[in-house]
Amino acid sequence: MFNKFLSRFSHDLGIDLGTKNTLVCVDDKGIIINEPSVVAINKRTNEILEVGLAARKMVGKTPGHIEAIKPLVDGVISDFEVTEKMLKYFINKVNSENFSLLSRPRVVIGIPLDLTEVEKKAVEDAAKSAGARSVYLIEEAMAAAIGARLPVTEATATMMVDIGGGTTEIAVISLGGVVTWKSLKAAGNEFDNDIIEYVREEFNILIGEQLAESIKIAVGSAVPLDAPQEIEVRGRDLLTGLPKALMASDKQIREAMSRTVNRIIENIKTILETTPPELVSDIYERGLFLSGGGALLRGLDKAISAATKIPVKIVDDPLTCVVRGTGILLEDKELLDKVMLPARQD
Ligand SMILES: Nc1ncnc2c1ncn2[C@@H]1O[C@H](COP(=O)(O)OP(=O)(O)OP(=O)(O)O)[C@@H](O)[C@H]1O
Ligand SMILES: [Mg+2]
Repeated sequence: MFNKFLSRFSHDLGIDLGTKNTLVCVDDKGIIINEPSVVAINKRTNEILEVGLAARKMVGKTPGHIEAIKPLVDGVISDFEVTEKMLKYFINKVNSENFSLLSRPRVVIGIPLDLTEVEKKAVEDAAKSAGARSVYLIEEAMAAAIGARLPVTEATATMMVDIGGGTTEIAVISLGGVVTWKSLKAAGNEFDNDIIEYVREEFNILIGEQLAESIKIAVGSAVPLDAPQEIEVRGRDLLTGLPKALMASDKQIREAMSRTVNRIIENIKTILETTPPELVSDIYERGLFLSGGGALLRGLDKAISAATKIPVKIVDDPLTCVVRGTGILLEDKELLDKVMLPARQD
């Protein structure tokens, strides 16, 4: 009752606190924040210099007293204080007009499947000290399925594979809950690391994370492309220490990433093997749904489908699916009650 009264003064928020990107949506306004999960801090004064996109531009380029911190690693808060500051910054940005005790929002947050109680509490505490009135935790894969408008509460299996920056979340959902699942610490960042390693070993060139990611997005693929592609790779020659550039083919980049692609596929197969047969037959019929930025890797859907013999569908706008799911939950209290994780809040 009192909460209802309070909620008239605030915008409730849905948050996808991702390893790579943080997205925030507001009940009646849709997605209003979509920025990299990076915070730049002045270590001398402990003051925040930039958050999000502006902070990401500083990664790898900061002088000694400035640090560009990515407070989440593999979907888990690794730097509590900075995560809290980042959330506070984003929440304030949304609720800037008359931010007070009266305007503390309800917050729904998507989290990975295998968080420990301590890690869950850390997310909840970070959101609360950043200004949330109450916090509802929801598995990212569940939020993604809801964001894709899949029938999660029905007695039919929905298989979601969310490939983010830090984790690949594989979940079979039925009757509002996750039946079988796996959270794998191999996703977009791992593809980038594969490319860094390959370029170092094959070409003796050292490249940075951001370049590796842009190579992945430009020519990366999981199956052969219709037309071959090449990309220039610029970095430091490990033998001379001087700048060097070489051309890499899509085939080489595919080979670099194949280890991680195969790991994801093997884990999807393992989950299928441990899923009850009735649900597996639903999945064969309805297909498997891919979300997260990793779903955009060219041909990944085809590679998964070929290996599992299951149709694979990429959800609409895979990068925003989780936050859209949290937004739907803010509006649908009944659904939220059905699917949220056991609460410790009010
Ligand atoms: N076109 C593309 N091709 C391949 N990968 C892409 C593409 N666009 C984005 N990505 C990758 O998607 C990843 C980010 O996805 P997303 O925003 O879903 O992750 P996240 O939610 O922040 O991470 P997590 O869910 O693991 O905490 C990055 O690794 C990025 O490089
Ligand atoms: Mg994510």
